[in-house]
Amino acid sequence: MTRRTLLHLPIAAAGLAAAESPARYDEKLRPQFHFSPATGWTNDPNGLVFYKGQYHLFFQHNPFDVKWGNMTWGHAVSTDMVHWKQGDNVLLPDKLGTMFSGSAVVDWTNSSGFQTGEDKPIVLFYTAAGGTSPESKGQPFTQCIAYSSDGGKTFTKYAGNPVVPNIVGENRDPKVVWHAPTRRWVMVLFLDGNTYGFLTSPDLKKWTLFQKISIPKTSECPDFFEMPVENEPGVSKWVFTGANGNYLVGSVDGRRFEPEVMTQAVQEGANYYAVQTFSDLPGNRRVQMSWMSGGQYPGMPFSQQMSVPYEFRLRKHGYASYKIFATPIREVEALRGTPKTWSDVALKPGENPLAGIAGDGWDIVAEIDPGSAREVGFRLRGRTVTYRSNEKGRNNTLETGGKSAPLALNAGRVKLRILLDRSSIEIFGNDGELAMPFCFIPEDGAGLELLTTGGEAKVVSLKMYPMTSIWRA
Ligand code: FRU
Repeated sequence: MTRRTLLHLPIAAAGLAAAESPARYDEKLRPQFHFSPATGWTNDPNGLVFYKGQYHLFFQHNPFDVKWGNMTWGHAVSTDMVHWKQGDNVLLPDKLGTMFSGSAVVDWTNSSGFQTGEDKPIVLFYTAAGGTSPESKGQPFTQCIAYSSDGGKTFTKYAGNPVVPNIVGENRDPKVVWHAPTRRWVMVLFLDGNTYGFLTSPDLKKWTLFQKISIPKTSECPDFFEMPVENEPGVSKWVFTGANGNYLVGSVDGRRFEPEVMTQAVQEGANYYAVQTFSDLPGNRRVQMSWMSGGQYPGMPFSQQMSVPYEFRLRKHGYASYKIFATPIREVEALRGTPKTWSDVALKPGENPLAGIAGDGWDIVAEIDPGSAREVGFRLRGRTVTYRSNEKGRNNTLETGGKSAPLALNAGRVKLRILLDRSSIEIFGNDGELAMPFCFIPEDGAGLELLTTGGEAKVVSLKMYPMTSIWRA
């Protein structure tokens, strides 16, 4: 993201009326299967955690305006990571600052001592952004905690805050993970520039800085997690990500993280930022959500949306390299209606098998043999998604929204999966090899097209699933 001005943001009176108008969840640009707040602004997903059948999504929220400011943690819960119910805001600005980004864990061993009854404590880590409100004037950026002893219904800020004093500048965005071999908690924290810190704690309250790393071309919102390598049984690796999803893969040697692979990008789109994975997911899953930053929502009572959750697989990929493959979580498929299907259809220039099909929410699953086509792809409500092949001396690429990324043919075919919502489009190539998320404003009256230029292509298979709204289920 291009950094917003962090300091002293007034709550613009002009936006209040819009933000307070009741949400219908059916507005023209309201995403129908991506989370957006009922009213007001959101940016980063925060505190993604699972406990006793409920997924929690906290989010950077301005309850008073459709612009960034007055940072508060909003809260929504779900039983499937797809249908969300927004509840009361949980962290309100205080004299230490407004409430910037952070994370959550379930404290299974009650290392914090916050447990009072049956429920294990759920502990939130957040940045108190001192100096971003008149009430916190003169305070630095520090890291604080809040906890729930009732399974995530209510949260209390810890009386001993801050738990991490200011280290440097506007250090922020703590993400906490349990490191089983040392039986210690590890916090990764954005420090400055491209530099992040690793801190450790026995009890979530006392933290010690023990390592710093830099990761090129990213800053803010770190995440750190261990994943099994799918195609190397018995091997697991640690992954470190920055806000734009750029990541390092490596190992933890004793306590220190040692990157082993050059920085890679988890996505090649234009609107994917402040990534975070869920903590404590059942079944050893690793699922990431992001803020689809930078979308425009003129006239709406809300602003910004989250990506759908992406399921990660870590695979050995080429010599001594490891790569994350990202696809929409399987739970998204429960929103699919009866598909329109095609198979083994020859597609000639000038033809459009999708002519006359209407609808603004689709899950599209396609396998295409470009044949002799120079370009083959979709035009969806005005947005083109083009697979370009057969050009001497050039890689085959997927192009959309002014971005282009290499995407190879396998046995002469390319696989595309496209999630089309009212104001976003997420494209996945070859079962997670490539992810390209974008926000967009559809063209009024523009329909759906599947087209080819420069030669005949073959649609090996195409399924178009109309999507049900998560707000109507
Ligand atoms: C990332 C970010 C974080 C910060 C938050 C403030 O988008 O700038 O670094 O905590 O947003 O809203």
